[in-house]
Amino acid sequence: MVAIHVTLRSGETRQIQGRPGRSVMEAIRDAGVDELMAICGGGCSCATCHVYVDPEFAALMPGQGSDENDLLDCSDSRNDTSRLSCQLRVTPEFDGLRVTIAPEDD
Ligand code: FES
Repeated sequence: MVAIHVTLRSGETRQIQGRPGRSVMEAIRDAGVDELMAICGGGCSCATCHVYVDPEFAALMPGQGSDENDLLDCSDSRNDTSRLSCQLRVTPEFDGLRVTIAPEDD
């Protein structure tokens, strides 16, 4: 398992475990963090799994597809570190990854 540090909207940070091959979104949901709604279940069609990835880990992230980019463009809270966590497959290199759950869009 891979340790992932998740900062919630309250500012609290929790350490969770991610299984390699599953998504960061699934790891967060499996840990019982229900503020990450992930309405589409990982289908890259809702953007409710939006997180900010700590820049220190940016080089480890997979490339961003056009669907993900388009969805993030619809978010008022997009920044340079924005990703959809359902599109991030956990790898052993992610150990210690830090992500912050983005604000909920209106
Ligand atoms: S869960 Fe819907 S886009 Fe990630």
